[in-house]
Amino acid sequence: MKKQFAALILALVPAFGFAAGPSVALDKVDIDLTDKAALQDGLQTFANYCMGCHSAQYQRYERVATDLGIPEEVMMDNIVFSDAKIGDHMKIGMTPDDAKAWFGAAPPDLTLVARVRGTDWLYSYMRGFYVDPSRPYGFNNTVFPNVGMPHVLAPLQGLQVLPSTLPEGESVACKQVQVVENGRKQFDPLTGTPITHEDCEQLTVVPGSGELTEAEYDEKIKNLVTFLAYSANPVKLESQRIGTYVLLFLAVFFVFAYLLKREYWKDVH
Ligand code: HEC
Repeated sequence: MKKQFAALILALVPAFGFAAGPSVALDKVDIDLTDKAALQDGLQTFANYCMGCHSAQYQRYERVATDLGIPEEVMMDNIVFSDAKIGDHMKIGMTPDDAKAWFGAAPPDLTLVARVRGTDWLYSYMRGFYVDPSRPYGFNNTVFPNVGMPHVLAPLQGLQVLPSTLPEGESVACKQVQVVENGRKQFDPLTGTPITHEDCEQLTVVPGSGELTEAEYDEKIKNLVTFLAYSANPVKLESQRIGTYVLLFLAVFFVFAYLLKREYWKDVH
């Protein structure tokens, strides 16, 4: 009976996993919440490119400045563009009704988005915009199909295309991808160089169309995601630090509790 029950649970696990999972494979991002430079760069990108439409209204400018080690003046001059004061919440002027009329969907508040979507999702989403003339703003997204958000970082990234969807006559070199057989990457036995093939289902940036190289753009997005992860849980590092002390305390306390127990039971036995 026990075994059958266990088998039933195991059988259900993949079903749940699938229901929650995205339809495309997400790229992994390894963020470091202690990296102040990354957090500051992420905040700057957020203020410059996202706060036109998205608020972070559960967060105050002052708290962010303190946590990220930014002096108040620098914060006011470079990050706060509205007439907000340093102690204010990071709200924006656009009303949800206007936004809905312009984009078909209201831009959600992003304070907690990293908890809702996860960092890998955000990283892949911000790198998943590609040219699609059938969309109102000319871009679609692999992670969020038919998204209402314009590709606001296109000047930085450039034009990303999915070569297989380009009309006749327009062509962009497809990405060269290393051949994998039986889960192993293939190399030429004589020269040791990777064996590749053209993959026209991979997103490719038209060379020279953006201000940043692909690696620089990925780094920008990684920093932005680091900031959003911080924003969704500003006390995470502090919790981990306190948690370590709590565990240490429990370990030491256990020793004394055990010695005391031995002392009490000595006379009973
Ligand atoms: C011009 C307005 C505009 C700007 C600027 C903008 N967005 Fe958006 N964003 C939207 C709209 C509209 C949606 C809702 C799209 C939908 O639901 O189809 C959205 C959705 C999103 C979502 C998906 C949220 C969810 O969970 O569904 C994320 C994440 C996001 N935006 C991040 C960003 C980031 C990061 C920036 C800055 C780099 C940014 N946005 C800049 C308009 C904007």
